Amino acid sequence: IARPLTDGMGRTISYLRLSVTDRCDLRCTYCMAERPDFLPRRDLLTPDEIDRLAEAFISRGVSKLRLTGGEPLVRRDFAGIVRRLGRHVRSGALDELTLTTNATLLAQHAVLLADSGVRRINVSLDSLDPETYRRVTRGGDLSKALDGIGAAHQQGIRIKINVVALREDNAQELPGIIAWAHGEGHDVSIIEVMPMAETGVDRRRQFLPLSAVREELEKRWTLTPSAHRTGGPSRYWEVAETGGRLGFITPLTNNFCEGCNRVRVTATGRLVLCLGQEDGTDLRSVLRSGDGQALDDTIDRALLGKPERHGFEEAYAAGTQAVTRGMNTTGG
Ligand code: GTP
Ligand code: 5AD
Ligand code: SF4
Repeated sequence: IARPLTDGMGRTISYLRLSVTDRCDLRCTYCMAERPDFLPRRDLLTPDEIDRLAEAFISRGVSKLRLTGGEPLVRRDFAGIVRRLGRHVRSGALDELTLTTNATLLAQHAVLLADSGVRRINVSLDSLDPETYRRVTRGGDLSKALDGIGAAHQQGIRIKINVVALREDNAQELPGIIAWAHGEGHDVSIIEVMPMAETGVDRRRQFLPLSAVREELEKRWTLTPSAHRTGGPSRYWEVAETGGRLGFITPLTNNFCEGCNRVRVTATGRLVLCLGQEDGTDLRSVLRSGDGQALDDTIDRALLGKPERHGFEEAYAAGTQAVTRGMNTTGG
């Protein structure tokens, strides 16, 4: 790559998280308000614009592309988007084309994903108890998610289960979820809840430090550090007894920003450099102008403003939200 994307701190950006919609069929209590305001559909990037934007990043060395939401699979023209992006997997420009999904619509999309070159996906699943799942998601049906996971697995797509650790909702259930996932052959990442957006639920009642989770798990299992890396923030351990892999994402108790390699673009084409940063740079207008060089330059200039790190620790300590934007705007 002639000119790799680098930020002002000298970090190379090789991972793009591209949100295709801020909408979701679920309303998880740590992610969204019960009645969120969604972006008007007319403001979203079109499939063609998404394609050109992805190409601009890929030509600058982005080798990992993750489609996110909200829930990416609720977008009606999702199939065309992912199918076109698949050419970058076939050409070898992308090492990984993937998505993060709640899996409720995965059963209908599993074949499409496999055909498009998606080899691995992350599925958000915070409980295996139908009642708890319904409460955390504000109405979701666990069986749909499980069907979706099964369908993707059947297509040979590798699955990682993302679990947000929630003190009052799933703390007791974590060993059970891990044991189930490992039994099915899936990796797991456990995530510390981040103080983003007012969701109407108290973060302090939700937050569970993963140091405590690990201590609890080590009472029953042998965890050894793993060299496995995915390019994301998870740090992995091998669980001897289950034979599976367990990742921890610890924005609050063990900051990982030093090695940051990623940026995100919202469904309306705003480049957001850090989850903990409020503002973004509009890429949609320059994309619509059709001037490729200007797009390149805008991205380069924006990258200089990528913060050294988020301020989630400080926000949490102060009992506030680090940013007003919800996780569903950037897809995490
Ligand atoms: P892998 O490719 O499997 O490593 O996925 P990933 O962890 O990069 O992506 P995923 O969408 O599964 O995200 C898991 C969790 O990590 C979500 O809660 C994201 O918001 C969070 N996450 C991803 N990237 C960052 C980051 O740069 N900073 C912070 N603070 N959290 C992140
Ligand atoms: N803190 C941590 N993780 C979150 N997610 C959504 N909101 C939050 C939050 N406030 C997770 C979802 C999904 C991933 C993209 O981000 O569960 O797995
Ligand atoms: Fe990178 Fe910001 Fe995430 Fe830290 S919080 S890893 S700097 S995007």
